[in-house]
Amino acid sequence: MKIRSSEMVVSAVNRNQYPTEGIPEIALVGRSNVGKSSTINTLLNRRNFARTSQTPGKTRTINFFLINNEFYFVDLPGYGYAKIAKSEKEKWGTIMERYLQDREELCAIFLLVDIRHEPTNDDVMMYEWIKHFGYNCVVIATKADKISRGQYQKHMSIIRKKLQLDKDEKIIPISSLKKTGVEDVWNEIVNQYNQ
Ligand code: GTP
Ligand code: MG
Repeated sequence: MKIRSSEMVVSAVNRNQYPTEGIPEIALVGRSNVGKSSTINTLLNRRNFARTSQTPGKTRTINFFLINNEFYFVDLPGYGYAKIAKSEKEKWGTIMERYLQDREELCAIFLLVDIRHEPTNDDVMMYEWIKHFGYNCVVIATKADKISRGQYQKHMSIIRKKLQLDKDEKIIPISSLKKTGVEDVWNEIVNQYNQ
């Protein structure tokens, strides 16, 4: 995909702050530190456009990035960060639920998991939540540079098994460090918002 424009439009907490033009949205969800913001930057070939950090819990609001005036990437706060206070966790739940409930513009959710690890119970819950709300789910296995290519299949079948993915649901490996898998993710994005 040729990126003609990308702009951060709004950093939202409440529903009344979300964009209202009815433009399709692709949301990225996953554990804190899994690489959601990095993936957005890699897809757009930009550095720190979506703010990233080595410290988990960087993204605290719902950030809408308008791409080519055609669709939004929605960067969501990560879950599963143990050190976060209980009140923050509750806030996270409310922010997420508010967004995921009944968002017509949302055409697909990309669930990001670390390729190295078996998905956590939080990941499983997130996956079930996505299905419960009736959205399409695409699983992205991040940090693919951390294992050798020969190990991809083994790791992806562990992910598939733990999440209990349907046969037709994809797992796409990506590395923001090595810039691999970018084309595959783009194909899936186009696929999803043209449906
Ligand atoms: P929160 O906003 O806290 O939920 O995190 P996030 O999911 O947005 O993660 P972020 O993109 O900020 O990345 C977290 C850390 O992982 C950073 O130190 C990144 O440099 C690193 N990282 C992200 N993607 C990759 C990757 O493909 N390979 C490697 N080696 N490191 C990565
Ligand atoms: Mg982030």
